[in-house]
Amino acid sequence: MISSVLPTYSRAPLSFVKGEGSWLIEADGRRFLDLGSGIAVNALGHANPALVEVLTEQAQNLWHVSNLYQIPQQQALADLLVDQTFADTVFFTNSGTEALELVIKMARKYWYDRAPEGETPRHKILSFEGSFHGRSTAAIAAAGSEKMTKGFGPLMPGFETLPWGDSAALAAALDDSVAAVIVEPIQGEGGIRPLPEAELKALRAACDKTGALLVLDEVQCGMGRTGRLFAHEWAGIIPDIMMVAKGIGGGFPLGAVLATAEAASGMGVGTHGSTYGGNPLGCAVGLKVTQIISDPAFLDEVNRKAGLLRQKLEGLVAAHPEAFEEVRGSGLMLGIKCRAPNTELVLAARDAGLLLVPAADNVLRLLPALTISDDEIAEAVTRLEAAATAQTAAPKAAG
Ligand SMILES: Cc1ncc(COP(=O)(O)O)c(C=O)c1O
Repeated sequence: MISSVLPTYSRAPLSFVKGEGSWLIEADGRRFLDLGSGIAVNALGHANPALVEVLTEQAQNLWHVSNLYQIPQQQALADLLVDQTFADTVFFTNSGTEALELVIKMARKYWYDRAPEGETPRHKILSFEGSFHGRSTAAIAAAGSEKMTKGFGPLMPGFETLPWGDSAALAAALDDSVAAVIVEPIQGEGGIRPLPEAELKALRAACDKTGALLVLDEVQCGMGRTGRLFAHEWAGIIPDIMMVAKGIGGGFPLGAVLATAEAASGMGVGTHGSTYGGNPLGCAVGLKVTQIISDPAFLDEVNRKAGLLRQKLEGLVAAHPEAFEEVRGSGLMLGIKCRAPNTELVLAARDAGLLLVPAADNVLRLLPALTISDDEIAEAVTRLEAAATAQTAAPKAAG
């Protein structure tokens, strides 16, 4: 017998009835400190009053009209994103995966329009091992991992996955047949693996040499998570195209593709669309989220709190070498590489009232709300320490 919900997830036996800032609350009143934020989605915490207000107001007036008409909330959010970033133009989606789909079309159309008469246009997309760009057929082909692709072949052609951090492999693969290179400045699902700034700069330069478009997937690392509005700003480079989702909606499904006018030049009327993408509800919320996060004073606070959390985590790792190996990541997108199994630590943390997200490479992900308080940071680290102590004590007691 199959469950009425398609059983593609292994769900924790928790069910929440309320969220308040960094906290999730069960029906019996039990409170959990949420350092997963719905996997980097609730960037401004649960039920943020400013977002509740704009969503409620919008809901009372207009939910949906379709992209057959002007949508002022969509226009305002696009204008703000263009003002705050490298981009000249924005298309709104409902998720990161949908953003990836447009990215591929945009890059291929760009080269189709430039192909000399009679020649096959460039269409190859390079990506990196350990990356995650979604679960559509194109997205799993782009990430290339067996875990996601097994049983779903034939895979969409035109993708090549390169080893992470291997500049020689990149140099060999990045030739005149490549349409675009897609990379997460910090791999999220892959285990909080940052691409060093120098490598991101080198990648930009390598793309410039052949004309390949540089696509950044900032679905997880963007929207203030690293202490800048977008993670690539730390490296001082600009992409041609960028995928955004998760945090931009603060919990309301919203994604976006940001592009330069040049990269987007092939995408005229009729080349792409979405029934819900850019709807008034999502864009009203996204506008408020982006206004709050792009405020330099807000980002300064993210950086200050990130420093505090990191310092405490470094101390914890040093004190518990039996459980933890190292802290990695940037801003409030941190990972702890574990010695003990990360999934067991997630369970022990849950018992201590702390929610974390596992990632590849035996990493625990910490993706708190950007609004987390200093006291909540201290409380989270105390609970994580309790979890580490309990988890590492358990097998000894059993043995
Ligand atoms: C870096 C990255 N890209 C793309 C996606 C896919 O986004 P969505 O789940 O909204 O389709 C994710 C989701 O985890 C992600 O982390």
